[in-house]
Amino acid sequence: MKFKLQFFIIFLLLKSSTYAKPNILFLVVDDLRPSLQVYGDQNSYTPNINKLAAKSYLFTKAYAQQALCAPSRNSFLTSRRPDSLHLYDFYSYWRDVVGNFTTIPQFFKENGYHTYSIGKVFHPGASSNWSDDSPYSWSKKPYHPSTEKYTNAKVCVSSDGGLARNLICPIILEEQPQKILPDQQSLNAAIKYLEIQKNNSKPYFLAVGFHKPHIPFKFPSEYLTFHPLNKIKFPKNSFQPPLLPSVAWNPWTDLRKRDDIKKLNISFPFGRMPKNVTLKIIQSYHASLTYVDHLIGKLLEKVDKNTIIVLFGDHGWSMGEHGEFAKYSNFEVAAKVPLIIRVPKLNEGHIISHELVELVDLFPTLVHLSGLSSGMQTCPKDKTVKLCTEGKSLVPLMVSLAHGQAYEGKKAIFYQYPRPGTFPTQHPNSDKPTLHEIKIMGYSIKTKQFRYTMWTYFDNEKFTPNWKKVYATELYDHLFDPEEENNLAGKASLSNLENSLKTALIKGWRYI
Ligand SMILES: *[C@@H]1O[C@H](CO)[C@@H](O)[C@H](O)[C@H]1NC(C)=O
Ligand SMILES: *[C@@H]1O[C@H](CO)[C@@H](O)[C@H](O)[C@H]1NC(C)=O
Ligand SMILES: *[C@@H]1O[C@H](CO)[C@@H](O)[C@H](O)[C@H]1NC(C)=O
Ligand SMILES: *[C@@H]1O[C@H](CO)[C@@H](O)[C@H](O)[C@H]1NC(C)=O
Ligand SMILES: *[C@@H]1O[C@H](CO)[C@@H](O)[C@H](O)[C@H]1NC(C)=O
Repeated sequence: MKFKLQFFIIFLLLKSSTYAKPNILFLVVDDLRPSLQVYGDQNSYTPNINKLAAKSYLFTKAYAQQALCAPSRNSFLTSRRPDSLHLYDFYSYWRDVVGNFTTIPQFFKENGYHTYSIGKVFHPGASSNWSDDSPYSWSKKPYHPSTEKYTNAKVCVSSDGGLARNLICPIILEEQPQKILPDQQSLNAAIKYLEIQKNNSKPYFLAVGFHKPHIPFKFPSEYLTFHPLNKIKFPKNSFQPPLLPSVAWNPWTDLRKRDDIKKLNISFPFGRMPKNVTLKIIQSYHASLTYVDHLIGKLLEKVDKNTIIVLFGDHGWSMGEHGEFAKYSNFEVAAKVPLIIRVPKLNEGHIISHELVELVDLFPTLVHLSGLSSGMQTCPKDKTVKLCTEGKSLVPLMVSLAHGQAYEGKKAIFYQYPRPGTFPTQHPNSDKPTLHEIKIMGYSIKTKQFRYTMWTYFDNEKFTPNWKKVYATELYDHLFDPEEENNLAGKASLSNLENSLKTALIKGWRYI
């Protein structure tokens, strides 16, 4: 069995090195949690992603390393975890502060690919040196839609007929500045690029970062017709769990700043969002997603058969679960992402993986699938190696699944979230503290059955936790409590389990 498997992997590599290199389409969808039809979400309508998934691998247990855009994106793009990049906020660039680490697109650029970025791939600003990591990662200057600058403009029609900066913002295109939205401009740029690439003998690595369903929910209003309000399912676990430590709570400060939510005067930090507004938020998230799904469908029509496609979210987003909204936490709804990978030469059918995987696994997986190299070395502790991974290639798992063979995946995966203090605050903003404000780190280990989190005091100059100074702990049994309502940490009857999870968490990803 083992011999056969290795033989097949070698065969696959040979095949892809003899023939043309595959193109790669890397689709990052901002704040996309796995609430898609193909993940069983009844509020979702995503016919084009369904079609893609029908020919792809679908990972049901994929996790981001931190539920915040810049740390998550720099992490998967370099295959290094936030503690290795020293990035938990938006304000530092790894090449300046830790090491000259190679990114996924940079690897492909240096290996004969033409690489291009459209929309939000790197988080813009300081964390990608105000250049989306150009020129290192890209063969050509990254494209940004000209209408990105209206993201926070007063363009939403409010209940009194005036214009506001609302959270919920269905629009009519003709009334918008330039009569178009950023993701539509990105689609147009991507289609144009694919057309030009037809004349290029080089394979391409095209990354397209869609902005929706990130807030504000600004989408063409016709997408509401797919999501009638009376059909929206409300989350079962919509209350703050009684045993949740205050440090775990994210007070969704970004929503409170929007004009329509501000008006509700919801008490900080634990006041409840009215149920009818929550329903509209869920509706708007899904309408934004159906809109993006439509654009993805248009893009996929133009992609040739010899293209590896990866579609995923940078992290999740709570839609009323636990009485919470947004990302900014260690909850499943914040850390878990959809991950769909289509590999034309490996498999043409729909294959589901329930193994634990992490976004740091994307880099070695793509390197492996491209046939450019059979693997990437695991990063050593010293930070001098430019090209290495803190993840693991998913190719052996994918090959096993394609052949109906058993495969032993990761025993556990890891993610984290920082806080400035033990109680939610507006100043500093406990949803997204800056590095100097971080006092506590919530380190999480997720096994097949459990999630265990230790909120430890954290040295923001040495980038290290103090495992002896723990403010709070959380333990959830996902077999019986997938919604994470019942914190079991500290239960005497579970002390053995808790100790073993604690030992594994402290050892970390290298030793599990
Ligand atoms: C970083 O790596 C890139 C690509 O390998 C190289 O061109 C550049 O000179 C390096 N920069 C430094 C400061 O070493
Ligand atoms: C970051 O951008 C600045 C300004 O363009 C540039 O001078 C600097 O070399 C860049 N940093 C790296 C590591 O390339
Ligand atoms: C591709 O090449 C053909 C033939 O040289 C040319 O007619 C066509 O305009 C080119 N297309 C693009 C998009 O450059
Ligand atoms: C908002 O709520 C607080 C109490 O939670 C109350 O004191 C205040 O008057 C309210 N403001 C408005 C404008 O309703
Ligand atoms: C929610 O219901 C209240 C009355 O209970 C109403 O005043 C408010 O306009 C509704 N909000 C939305 C967004 O539907």
